[in-house]
Amino acid sequence: MLKLGINIDHVATLREARYRGRTCGEPSPVTAAQVCEAAGAHGITAHLREDRRHILDRDIWALRQVVKTRLNLEMANTPEIVALALKLKPEIVCIVPERRQEVTTEGGLDVVAAEKSLAETCKKMNDAGIEVSLFIAPDEAQIDASARTGSQFIELHTGRFAEHFQGPEKGEVELQRLIAGAKQAHALGLQVNAGHGLNCENLTTLFRVPHLVELNIGHSLISRAVFSGLENAVKEMLAVMDDYR
Ligand code: PXP
Repeated sequence: MLKLGINIDHVATLREARYRGRTCGEPSPVTAAQVCEAAGAHGITAHLREDRRHILDRDIWALRQVVKTRLNLEMANTPEIVALALKLKPEIVCIVPERRQEVTTEGGLDVVAAEKSLAETCKKMNDAGIEVSLFIAPDEAQIDASARTGSQFIELHTGRFAEHFQGPEKGEVELQRLIAGAKQAHALGLQVNAGHGLNCENLTTLFRVPHLVELNIGHSLISRAVFSGLENAVKEMLAVMDDYR
């Protein structure tokens, strides 16, 4: 069964738009996580960015208290956040690149360039009982390097596929890259997640990618929740995902 991890950063983004610098405010990403879990989500994902633009430290510690499925901490590979993750003990961390100017995580990690320090972080996490996923583009060299770091998962960046899906070729070229990447990673013993830009429309095409374990979806789900409610939006996504074979 394909699992759904829900990225709740967008709930915190909405709160911060009004309540930045305050110790209270709505909507609460922690309550959102509870609603998502009650609706059937298999995990909760939150990105504690260096600039704390959406998820705050207090959110991540509260999430650790309430999340009953699986907490996936998205994080940059920096000493501050590595130390925090080792204390927080999420079930899994997803290491992502972080650029201050970007609106959201724009590209994949350059594992080839940072292989040594990523391998060190993977070892620290694994020794603490935390699994590791690396967020990468479907690129042969990046997948080979990921397998060498000791991470258990990769998360294939589906952003380019989602972008091209709106064009006449419906993302076919990017889809072929994702298919090849998933096969390569699976053959190397990596588990394969995917995420970024996924929605109920492009998901069924993405299902041609084999070996997928979990999808991480945020923006389209929270957007849909504005009109149909979070519980319904999660259930609707899960119903679409039921067709993955
Ligand atoms: N996976 C990763 C690693 C991400 O950085 C994001 C975006 O925060 C997502 C998944 C979810 O992307 P979206 O919000 O476009 O569904």
